[in-house]
Amino acid sequence: MPQFSKVGVVGVGAMGGGIVQMAAQAGADVVLFDARPGGAQAAVDRLGTTWDGLAAKGRMTAEAVAAAKARLTPAASLADLAGCDLVIEAIVEDLEVKRQTFVALEAVVGPDCVLASNTSSLSVTAIAAACARPERVAGYHFFNPVPLMKVVEVIDGARTAPGISGRLAAFARDYGHRPITCIDSPGFVVNHAGRGFGTEALQIVVAEGAASYADVDRALRDQAGFRLGPFELLDLTALDVSQPVGESMYRQFYGEPRFRPSWLLKQRLDAGLLGRKAGRGFYAHGPEGQEKLPEQPVPKADPRPVWVAAVEPAWRDEIVAIVKAAGWPVVSGPQPPDDALIVVAPLGHDATAAAEGLQVPANRLVAIDALFGLGKRRVIMAPPGADPAFVEAAHALFAADGTPVTRIHDSAGFIAQRVVATIVNIASDMAQQRIASPADIDDAVRLGLGYPQGPLAFGDAIGADRIAAILAALGNLSGDPRYRPSPWLRRRASLGLKLTTAEA
Ligand SMILES: NC(=O)c1ccc[n+]([C@@H]2O[C@H](COP(=O)([O-])OP(=O)(O)OC[C@H]3O[C@@H](n4cnc5c(N)ncnc54)[C@H](O)[C@@H]3O)[C@@H](O)[C@H]2O)c1
Repeated sequence: MPQFSKVGVVGVGAMGGGIVQMAAQAGADVVLFDARPGGAQAAVDRLGTTWDGLAAKGRMTAEAVAAAKARLTPAASLADLAGCDLVIEAIVEDLEVKRQTFVALEAVVGPDCVLASNTSSLSVTAIAAACARPERVAGYHFFNPVPLMKVVEVIDGARTAPGISGRLAAFARDYGHRPITCIDSPGFVVNHAGRGFGTEALQIVVAEGAASYADVDRALRDQAGFRLGPFELLDLTALDVSQPVGESMYRQFYGEPRFRPSWLLKQRLDAGLLGRKAGRGFYAHGPEGQEKLPEQPVPKADPRPVWVAAVEPAWRDEIVAIVKAAGWPVVSGPQPPDDALIVVAPLGHDATAAAEGLQVPANRLVAIDALFGLGKRRVIMAPPGADPAFVEAAHALFAADGTPVTRIHDSAGFIAQRVVATIVNIASDMAQQRIASPADIDDAVRLGLGYPQGPLAFGDAIGADRIAAILAALGNLSGDPRYRPSPWLRRRASLGLKLTTAEA
């Protein structure tokens, strides 16, 4: 038996339709209501087609399809939801309309019926506050498309009774979703944790002019393993959706600098550069998909002596091996000889700080990001005033074996180091605020955002101490409080504990 045996779904559009499918597949009887006349029957018909398609592909038996179809009942009015033990609302994203709907629902359902909202951005507590029994109201936030995105946030409002979220979580397992239990807070888990990717990318491109958006996308795909870069993701989501969400999150957290939006997105929204659906965003999108921007051309350079320094011995070995494989001479010694190209691999620091720290000439120095390995893409940068001949030599050297090289302007933490550190820091602070458990934060992000790893596990793979070092260098250079490390991160870094370590 499923956790709830009779489920009402109010608003059966894109999300509601998927929710109906999950509930019926879990074995619950489902009553569908939609304000649009004929809307409920249309959803029943659509689901019939979906299930027939699954049967044709052998993914559902004919018996299971017949049973699922028999569980659906379109409702003529809200009153038909009377016998439900759970009602899930998925109507327009409007606080007043949702509150009125919950009040109307309370008038028809029994006292023990659980009421849940699929809101993606409104306060669950504010919706519940309109109810006579706010303790039975919770958030139940699905992702689009519901059957494929196998994660759902179960949100406790300020007055939700203990036990409600546990039942909703158990029901999620009945239809094969991973429930994420969290407290009511702006963006819940997924949309909160997802803030860092875009905001730090915009900081690099817009606020610091350190790299182009295409170079940021390439670095994050090739070095850090993200499926899409932040600007590709903005194009996919469309700015008319993501720009208001960014503004709203910033307001809801009362100006938290980690979430500070960039003026660029507002401008591009005004210009209609919405993304893929408009044919033009950061990239042009045509019948062949997203335009392919060429890699930076590789300059020609004659071999010259190379002097290498890295904060980690393994990084130095890796760089020396690449230099030797290219046939360039490696010189050693406490100080680089006068004609040598100086290659450094810093952590968090920019090339300028690396030159200062090592007391070597900045004009012959090039920094390379070795944190994520040097196999797939190499990101290099030089201090202001560097001799172009040396920068070009470094570019040619690191591209000699055919590996793509991205040259950026001086940036504390290059691209990938700082974006990943930002994401890890935000997730750490979510754990610190007890918004959700470390395991739930990680699974929500992996399943909801498709990141290669959960942010806390990602931080552990890199090392909490290294993440802290990157943030410290960023904070030092910029003075920007967006880089202040979360106490969660700081404590675990100094104790040598994993970021996934919960507290007793
Ligand atoms: N689309 C997404 O990616 C997504 C993801 C997560 C959550 N959500 C949330 O889910 C909810 C629904 O979004 P959607 O994308 O399915 O929208 P949708 O427009 O596809 O569907 C909404 C449905 O609700 C019906 N409706 C509107 N007002 C109603 C009312 N007062 N009573 C009954 N039915 C009503 C509409 O006729 C429509 O069929 C919103 O709160 C949205 O924020 C959407």
